[in-house]
Amino acid sequence: MDATSQHFLMCRPTYFAVDYAINPWMDPSAPVDTDLAIQQWEQLRQAYRDLGHTVEEIAPVPGLPDMVFAANGGTVIDGKAMAVQFRDPQRADEAPAYRAWFEAAGLELHDPKHVNEGEGDILLAGEYLLAGTGFRTAHASHAQLQEVFGYPVITMQLVDPRFYHLDTALAVLDDRTVAYLPEAFSPGSQEVLRRLFPDAVHATMVDAMVLGLNAVSDGQHVVLPTQATGLAAKLRDRGYQTIGVDLSELRKAGGGPKCCTLRLRQGGK
Ligand code: ARG
Repeated sequence: MDATSQHFLMCRPTYFAVDYAINPWMDPSAPVDTDLAIQQWEQLRQAYRDLGHTVEEIAPVPGLPDMVFAANGGTVIDGKAMAVQFRDPQRADEAPAYRAWFEAAGLELHDPKHVNEGEGDILLAGEYLLAGTGFRTAHASHAQLQEVFGYPVITMQLVDPRFYHLDTALAVLDDRTVAYLPEAFSPGSQEVLRRLFPDAVHATMVDAMVLGLNAVSDGQHVVLPTQATGLAAKLRDRGYQTIGVDLSELRKAGGGPKCCTLRLRQGGK
């Protein structure tokens, strides 16, 4: 497996907080240490830099505590950017901020016609665009994604509210392989995953409950939460190098490394 140098967009958690609950991980009555969240986020950014990846940053906006989860800011493939439309009003104002960043970056912009939470639910795996639905991204948006990007879209039905975005239940490891938690998907979607990825790594609920699947792979190195020790061991058995990062503060909002990271696939064009 060859590692590829990647290009990411991240957003410093300057205004991070858990002020509302839009997923089962969020408890507004529990204390949150924003400074610790920032330190942990800086360690994630450093881990990417150490791997030779390029990290760009979008300016955080006051009053948008979840803006740190850049994966939800859009989907960027082959120089095209699909902007987002959030399900929840609390996150709605993040969409124009990310959209403006894509526009300034010179990407070919497309606006969503339905709820679409970006790379939280839309993951490119080789030649397939895996698209989650069930909690956030609307099924109707999948057809638009296929039309815009020209990759076959495979609908993935999520069934467990704790794994509300596809990137909390499945990680793309390289062009041929993924890791996932089978029980986070409907029976039909599990069958599709078995058909498409017969060699996939199956994660356990224990690893999924520390957001272990919210991982970022360059095809050789996998950056994942330090707490996901079982999954890390399985990945090493498969020949991947694992890099653990502790994002315990951000997990209080239901996010891990992948949530903080939007892949910018500008190349090719
Ligand atoms: N609190 C955020 C939400 O519920 C977390 C988003 C995590 N992002 C992700 N890509 N899974 O929307």
